[in-house]
Parts: sequence; structure tokens; C-alpha cells
Amino acid sequence: MKQRKIFDIHTHILPGVDDGSDSMKTTMGMLKMAYNQGVRAVMATPHGSASRVSPTQCRSLLEKVQEQAQQKFPDLKLYLGEEIFYSRGCIEHLNNGKLLPMTGTSYVLTEFPYSISYRELYSAVRELVWARYRPILAHIERYRCLRESDCTEELSESGAYLQINFSSIGASCLNGTTRWCRRQLTGGRIHFLGSDMHNLGSRRPELGKALEWMERHLEEDYLREILWENAEKMVRDELV
Ligand SMILES: [Fe+2]
Repeated sequence: MKQRKIFDIHTHILPGVDDGSDSMKTTMGMLKMAYNQGVRAVMATPHGSASRVSPTQCRSLLEKVQEQAQQKFPDLKLYLGEEIFYSRGCIEHLNNGKLLPMTGTSYVLTEFPYSISYRELYSAVRELVWARYRPILAHIERYRCLRESDCTEELSESGAYLQINFSSIGASCLNGTTRWCRRQLTGGRIHFLGSDMHNLGSRRPELGKALEWMERHLEEDYLREILWENAEKMVRDELV
């Protein structure tokens, strides 16, 4: 299989910040696993709302991770964002710097309760767009309202960007969620991919099966866009 350059835009690699990595050792182990599968850029996205540390502390933690990673993986780029649990107040927190968009851009990785209704999801997207943010909806395969309807296109047209997890694409084809994810991909409706890695065990970065499926079923240009090019545009704050 062709070795791909991958940008992982959704990870919990910052040590001791949320339910992700518990130590620098784990962080380096996670980065090594990801690197060995072709990852060359990683966005650290700790849970904004649950974070035990401030954005300033997150930045200095990222610098520490960068220092260590630089020695082992000199061509690996690291960035800082947050996975933000949407609430009405989150826009104010974004505006005053208490919550972080993706590496200082207008892109914001946003998550919601799994049982959210489509109407609520749509209006949250509109709120963020009116506030001049570009919402990236994290692991959209988790929302029942999207799996049960075919509204992903309408959501994108309203200003949302859609992210799914590698693990959801790579699971068994008997799995309904996996089949749904694959339909979204063949329909070209997904903009970003993430490992959502949390640790070295049950939520480790595992991209192989997803990559294998995508190589067989997706057009080369689209595959390059969702694995790397869209994320590069995002970190430059360009329109994807
Ligand atoms: Fe996450």
C-alpha cells in the first residue's frame, strides 16, 4: 500500500489535560504509532470544556511535546486547537480567548450530545457561522439525527465542515455506522479525518484498515484532500 502523508486533526495527545494521554511517555508512544502509519501533522485537541488547564498552560504543554517530538520525528508538525462541547456561551469564550479555535484560525472543532436533534445541530452551526467561525463537526458518525437522515449535505451548505474518525471507517462492513461513514466518503461529503486517539490501548491511533478501504474506493484527488490538503488549508485559515 502507498505510504500516505496524513494530517490528524483530532487527537488527545496533551499529557494530563483531559481523558487523553496520561503522561509524556504515553504521548510520545501515541505519536510514534501515528508517525509509523504516515501521520506527519497532528492537531492536539484537548476537550475545551473539561480541560483542567488553561489555554496558556496548553500552549506550554504543546511546546514541551514539540521539544521531545522534534528529536524523534523531525518532520512531524504539531498544532494546538481544542475540541469544544457546544453551548451558547462557547462563542463568547472563543471571542475572549478562553476556548481555542484550531491553531488561531477561524476553524473550531465542535462536539455535541449524541442525542442532539438535527434542528439543534443546524442552529448551532448557524450561530457559529454568524459569529464568523468555521465549525468542524467532530466525529459526525456519532449523531443519530445525521445517521437517520441524509442531511449532511445541507449541513455543509450551511457552513459546517464534517470530520469522521478513522476507526469508524475501518471497522467491519457489518457495522451500520461504518457503512454510513463509507457512504458519506464515496459521496464526497467529508472534509477532515481524525484518529481521536486518547491512549495506547483501546483508543490508540489505528488508521490501517480505514486507509486500505479508502485506497480501494475513493478517487486519488479526494483522498489527498481529506488526508492532508484540506487540513493544510485550515491551518492557513484558507477556505476549504
Ligand atoms: Fe475527541
